[in-house]
Amino acid sequence: MIKPFYLDLSENEILEIQSKTGEILHSGNLILGQHTKDFENQFAEYIGTKYAVALNTCTSALEILFVSKGIVGKKVAVQTNTNFATVAAIIRAGGIPVFMDMDPNYFVPNLEILKYTIDKHDDIVGVAWVHIGGIIHPEFSAVVEYCRLNGIFLIEDCAHAHGSQVDGVKAGNFADGGAFSFFPTKVMTTMEGGMLTTNSTEEAELARSIRNQGKRGGDFGGLHTDLGNSWRMNEISAYMGLIQLSKLDDMVMRRQAAVDGLLPLLNLRGIDYCSTSHMDQCAQYKFIIKYKNNESVEAMKDLFKMDEIILGGGVYEVPCHLQPVFQSIKFDRNDLRNSEKFCPKHICPPITSGTTSDDVSAISASIINHLI
Ligand SMILES: Cc1ncc(COP(=O)(O)O)c(C=O)c1O
Repeated sequence: MIKPFYLDLSENEILEIQSKTGEILHSGNLILGQHTKDFENQFAEYIGTKYAVALNTCTSALEILFVSKGIVGKKVAVQTNTNFATVAAIIRAGGIPVFMDMDPNYFVPNLEILKYTIDKHDDIVGVAWVHIGGIIHPEFSAVVEYCRLNGIFLIEDCAHAHGSQVDGVKAGNFADGGAFSFFPTKVMTTMEGGMLTTNSTEEAELARSIRNQGKRGGDFGGLHTDLGNSWRMNEISAYMGLIQLSKLDDMVMRRQAAVDGLLPLLNLRGIDYCSTSHMDQCAQYKFIIKYKNNESVEAMKDLFKMDEIILGGGVYEVPCHLQPVFQSIKFDRNDLRNSEKFCPKHICPPITSGTTSDDVSAISASIINHLI
């Protein structure tokens, strides 16, 4: 069975984490200690930002970023094909989400879609942009410039984009803050965990405060200055993060090699997929293949399963404007045409850093069976 999840830890690394876990437990320093500091410093250095703040989830990182922008009662544009968490974080920070469509070539909005959305709602104060599957849209630098010139903040949801890079700039360092996820299925994991990246000293301080019940200027004081939460990362997760980060580029390279193994077949047979050839490096969290036959995504999953291949979750099979929980958000269906058309018609083969060349051959054979 070829599965879409793979925990990329060698036996030695597991032993190292076990031994470090014992050390951490004996020390009694379970949170906000040296491993968290090291992980933050090394992550910031890797992304190229001044600061990185370790958290319990990416959802918390997103909410903190939106709180720091002061969005209560204000509109924030966000693509409808994203995880629930992106939209929920806007709402929890007091904002009003305005759904954007996607460019079917990349499953991410483009400059035209962004401008259309902003022109239609002239009171949008910010944008939440999700690098779906790790793909940084070829027009993203123009998007950054457009937002800057128009005084609109731009937050990057990098839950899929660890190590993604275009023109020497990494996802999470293009604009006004990035949010990463270390959920077990992600490109790198800390079991549960998140990281906020920023170049703003004030926002990094606010994030450190909010994660620790709103305590400013020192992690264990008695005064609560901000309306914070308990969103800390623990020391064992931080240590695991250090190990995962040290091999992130290698894990991404292995994902890319698996994708490269599929491309000749897809190109030869004219099967449509989201290309990442314009990027220096793509995390390849999800490799998106579009199909034209009438099968539902669920039926596709069943067909591949007969070949012992478990397809990964889509991005996203049900866009957020159709999710039951978001039905009170107003939207115009005509504006979200691409999302409605392509979300239910794509598959993500099980590509991980553990995918072997035999797996690639088996996935290719299954694609021939079911997509051609
Ligand atoms: C695009 C996106 N944003 C945010 C999240 C939330 O991440 P976490 O589970 O770390 O809060 C996810 C999780 O899958 C995601 O895919």
